[in-house]
Amino acid sequence: MQSSRVLLPGKVSALSRLNRILKGPQYADAKYFILLDSNCFTHCLPTLVSRVEALQKAEFLELPEREECKDLEIASQVWQTLMESGADRNTVLVNLGGGCISDLGGFVAAGYKRGIRYINVPTTLIGMVDAAIGGKTAVNVGGVKNQVGFFYPPEVVCIEPSFLATLPDREVQSGWLEMLKVQLISGMPMDTNISEQTISDCVQFKMDVVKSDPKDHGIRRILNFGHTFGHAVEAYSHRLGHPLLHGEAVGVGMVCALFLSMHKLGLSETLYQQVRKVVSDHVMLPKYTLRDTETLLEYMRQDKKNENGEICCVLLQEFGVPVIDVAVPEVEIRDCFLKIAK
Ligand code: GLY
Repeated sequence: MQSSRVLLPGKVSALSRLNRILKGPQYADAKYFILLDSNCFTHCLPTLVSRVEALQKAEFLELPEREECKDLEIASQVWQTLMESGADRNTVLVNLGGGCISDLGGFVAAGYKRGIRYINVPTTLIGMVDAAIGGKTAVNVGGVKNQVGFFYPPEVVCIEPSFLATLPDREVQSGWLEMLKVQLISGMPMDTNISEQTISDCVQFKMDVVKSDPKDHGIRRILNFGHTFGHAVEAYSHRLGHPLLHGEAVGVGMVCALFLSMHKLGLSETLYQQVRKVVSDHVMLPKYTLRDTETLLEYMRQDKKNENGEICCVLLQEFGVPVIDVAVPEVEIRDCFLKIAK
């Protein structure tokens, strides 16, 4: 799989370097379309087009916000619009936004005329440290996340942390929980600071993992730490009408994974309590009932990483030592959902 050029924050800003790249010969005939939602249209697009000259004549495609845009019907509408606008194989899609925009945009790019180039310009912290990197593209089907998609990497990923200033604090803090995930699985020091350096460290870690396992056959699965639980927690929170942000749900998911790690792999209780405290400073740990756990388990049974009908999770043996593909009996999962808030 071809790898992406990732522009990390630096002395020369990532946007300036993107500006220079798009003046290069390989983009001479490019026609640009920018995929974005209404928030990014207002808060991020002016910066992007003023700093990247090649995008000044780009056309815009505005999508619904958040998960609603990760839909086959929406993808089909974007393909239709691209066709009507005469987009050919020289078209370059620029995905300006969070993980939902880059997931959908990558999916659209992978399918359009059997594959066109695309560039991710993440504007959220989760987008920067996770979703925009690594070439996973997807749409949701039947209310289940990321059921259909391709591995199809962007040509360029432009990490420009100044976009974070356009976000509500809750959104940024939710993104930090995804950074905490990286710290726990990599063993880099736990650091609540969100800086160009800590962002770059997380991005670099993800790039290294993706490079050694681009198609998610083994080691890349460590990046799903907290996600098997987190996706279920997130989907259920939407169903209950009190939606959690993705990072918040992953935070709850990590507490579940650490609870099980303590009981199954001997992880220290001190680390479990430390992370539980940090996560609960960001999101209230849900008090689930037995009935809730039935629905949560229904979601978890859909996870792509399950094997032979068993729910498989990433657990942590110790700080920085993740273990993939641990089959966990449903009775233990139920027990952990019931106990995390106690
Ligand atoms: N978000 C997990 C991965 O890219 O593998």
